[in-house]
Amino acid sequence: MTIEKITVVGAGVMGRGIAYVSALAGFQTTLVDISEQQLKNALTELHHLAEKAVDRNKLTAQAVTNVFNHLHTSLELATAVRDTHFVIEAVPEKRELKKHVLETVDTHAPNHIVIASNTSTISPTELGSYTKRPEQVAAMHFFNPVHRMKLVEIVKGLETNSESIQVIREVAEKMNKDTVEVNEFPGFVTSRISAMVGNEAFYMLQEGVASAEDIDKAIRLGLNYPMGPLELGDLVGLDTRLNNLKYLHETLGEKFRPAPLLEQYVKAGRLGRKTGRGVYDYSKDGEMIKK
Ligand SMILES: NC(=O)c1ccc[n+]([C@@H]2O[C@H](COP(=O)([O-])OP(=O)(O)OC[C@H]3O[C@@H](n4cnc5c(N)ncnc54)[C@H](O)[C@@H]3O)[C@@H](O)[C@H]2O)c1
Repeated sequence: MTIEKITVVGAGVMGRGIAYVSALAGFQTTLVDISEQQLKNALTELHHLAEKAVDRNKLTAQAVTNVFNHLHTSLELATAVRDTHFVIEAVPEKRELKKHVLETVDTHAPNHIVIASNTSTISPTELGSYTKRPEQVAAMHFFNPVHRMKLVEIVKGLETNSESIQVIREVAEKMNKDTVEVNEFPGFVTSRISAMVGNEAFYMLQEGVASAEDIDKAIRLGLNYPMGPLELGDLVGLDTRLNNLKYLHETLGEKFRPAPLLEQYVKAGRLGRKTGRGVYDYSKDGEMIKK
């Protein structure tokens, strides 16, 4: 089947980015959320992103018009998936919520289509078990910011068939991404390492080993990471990072116990860039305020 229509569920940090690369690749894309405000924010942010791309001569004005002609929004998941060709779920990393969303998608989407989840950690076998088509469910893990990060990590569940993996690979390639295939294990390859490093940086901050700026600088310049783990946490969203760690703690044990300081920041609503404050302050125009 030729894939022409894609539905992305969840218009947050990741869903809006996935919808953008999907529309840019020429798929008719519907971005679904339960919050009208989130859909509005997503469109505003994507318009800014596209304008910047035009300013930098990366996109033509015509290409931008095409993107927004291919991008639609909806508050009605059941209707949005009724005649879709492919679904990418990107709701928060909470099993009960993903279960609810996948059950709804499974009930209303055509039986033959593939359902992919942008989960960072959760077992695709478990996600598949929430549907009546586990052989057509897998993780399709994008990275933040989606338009810039080249990789999609594809994770097979126990029942996922090779045809579905092939479909996901083709969709990813059309979105101009490179892929790796990973066998199921909590946290896959990338989230397991990233969560471990990010958590350790929070423990260091809590222990007073160095300032946030110096921890990030040390890792950037000393280990040649493109971003420090604390600034990356703010970009990812500290709530998302905490949810990932909780799942890895539950499944892989003590070494993933979330740092108490991270839990405290999340309780305080300091979730990172998306709320204007995390480890760092972004309250002026969303840019990091250097001390
Ligand atoms: N943030 C990252 O850097 C990152 C990177 C890779 C993967 N992920 C994964 O992507 C997924 C989404 O993370 P995020 O950071 O975009 O989260 P987010 O909190 O920024 O956005 C989630 C969105 O889902 C919406 N939502 C909640 N319930 C819904 C429902 N029932 N139906 C439709 N929409 C619903 C929310 O309103 C919100 O807009 C998670 O599984 C996360 O682990 C995140």
